[in-house]
Amino acid sequence: DAATVAELVALAERLAREAGALVREGRPDQVDVAATKSSAIDVVTAMDYASEALLRRVLAAERPQDGVLGEEEGHVAGSSGVTWVLDPIDGTVNYLYGIPAYAVSVAAVVGPPEPGRWTAVAGCVHAVADGRTWVAGRGQGAYRDGRRLSVNPERPLVESLVGTGFGYVASRRREQARVVAELLPQVRDLRRIGSAAMDLCAVADGSLDAHYERGLQPWDLAAGALVAQEAGAVVTGLRGARAGEAMTVSGPAGTVARLVALLERLDADRDVVAGPE
Ligand code: IPD
Repeated sequence: DAATVAELVALAERLAREAGALVREGRPDQVDVAATKSSAIDVVTAMDYASEALLRRVLAAERPQDGVLGEEEGHVAGSSGVTWVLDPIDGTVNYLYGIPAYAVSVAAVVGPPEPGRWTAVAGCVHAVADGRTWVAGRGQGAYRDGRRLSVNPERPLVESLVGTGFGYVASRRREQARVVAELLPQVRDLRRIGSAAMDLCAVADGSLDAHYERGLQPWDLAAGALVAQEAGAVVTGLRGARAGEAMTVSGPAGTVARLVALLERLDADRDVVAGPE
């Protein structure tokens, strides 16, 4: 019910802000990436774990019957029907380099914790570096720092600023580059912000017209997709599939329809052909 959704939203926001404070305070002022890459990566890894551990600790105290699915520590089933889907740092490479686009993403979902089979009911994306915070409750709208959000009006692709992102596997990136080569001349411009959760929130608040990405995991999109939907976005896959690992496309309906048609024409979801990784 609405009261429960509001409670879950409040807890999602509290969790994301508490983990965000840890991530912010723990980041060294200077990360000497070029000289000490492996230890710099260790710092990020340690903070990913520390952030997720904090989230799990608070959840165990506040809602011990709920399940938890986190990027670093996997899935622990619960008995309440609610599962928390956690990305302790989305935008890890930005975090490593000090580019201020990384976020803690927290969502409460009902149903199996797999995109397409769940319903997200509450979500919060907290941008750690500048504190911007997006929240949404199912049926209750999306807000950034108290301001109600709504997606941009539908636009032709040539007038659309489109966000995207890339996975970490080279063969998959080759396919993604092929799609980008076709898409780039047909849109206003492309952005690769580096945090899928923030991309979806950017669609919600109009700082992107649309976003698409292949290979997103539950923790990347659970909270951001709800924020986008509650701001009026369609969030979908290609060829009638739901948003998820194969493809996630978001934006106002008309823009998404054009982008989906183009991505389908380009076989943007086709299986990676064999080649060097
Ligand atoms: C990544 C970011 C990035 C997206 C990748 C994700 P991580 O998440 O969301 O924008 O392009 O697909 O894996 O690794 O920083 O949590």
